[in-house]
Amino acid sequence: MIVTVDGPSGTGKSTVSRAVAQQLGLPHLDTGAFYRAATLAVLEAGESPEDANTVTSIVEEADIDQVDGTIRLNGRDVTDAIRQDPVNRHVSAVSSHPEVRRLLVERQRRWVATHGGSAVVEGRDIGSVVFPTAPIKIYLDARPEIRASRRAAERDMHLDDVAEALRRRDHLDTSRAASPLLVPKDAVVVDTSEMKFRDVVDLVISLATRGA
Ligand code: DC
Repeated sequence: MIVTVDGPSGTGKSTVSRAVAQQLGLPHLDTGAFYRAATLAVLEAGESPEDANTVTSIVEEADIDQVDGTIRLNGRDVTDAIRQDPVNRHVSAVSSHPEVRRLLVERQRRWVATHGGSAVVEGRDIGSVVFPTAPIKIYLDARPEIRASRRAAERDMHLDDVAEALRRRDHLDTSRAASPLLVPKDAVVVDTSEMKFRDVVDLVISLATRGA
């Protein structure tokens, strides 16, 4: 069984997909973390995230993996480093390059195959590109002001700064030419604005267990 969970940030996507995976006894794959680790590799190499050729060759060489819930870059635990500001600012540029996406999509599919073939997979293009034939596709959404306030609380940051960063990232993620963020055509859209975390998890599990 593959459950795809797509949507913008601040919708509860990560928390929900982790809880759903745990309850269904499935592995959970965070594909955003792959793009984040790729971005960290580019920044550590001192290269420009905009330069498609250089970025592609760095990603080709980089060993990016998710091991027991931690993210590894060439064997090093970068779980915390990929959530810091430099990566937040440049991850949209790195993930906009089609060749980078091709490489990472391949690795994401391989990860699921080597972890038993069933998983809860979260990201932006999972139901549309990575696993287009998945039987259960969820798209989590929430009003922009709700998403910003959740993110601000989570990271103890100023609301205006978070709202501005989210707007910028939403724009880049939805307007890029290669696999933009969109609602997969057969996905169930869940607006989490007024929902409790537990209710979102229960809803996704009931959709998953009755095959959406
Ligand atoms: O889910 P996240 O915030 O960790 O994702 C970080 C960035 O990676 C996000 O701005 C868009 C990109 N991304 C993507 O392009 N495709 C995915 N499947 C997952 C994330």
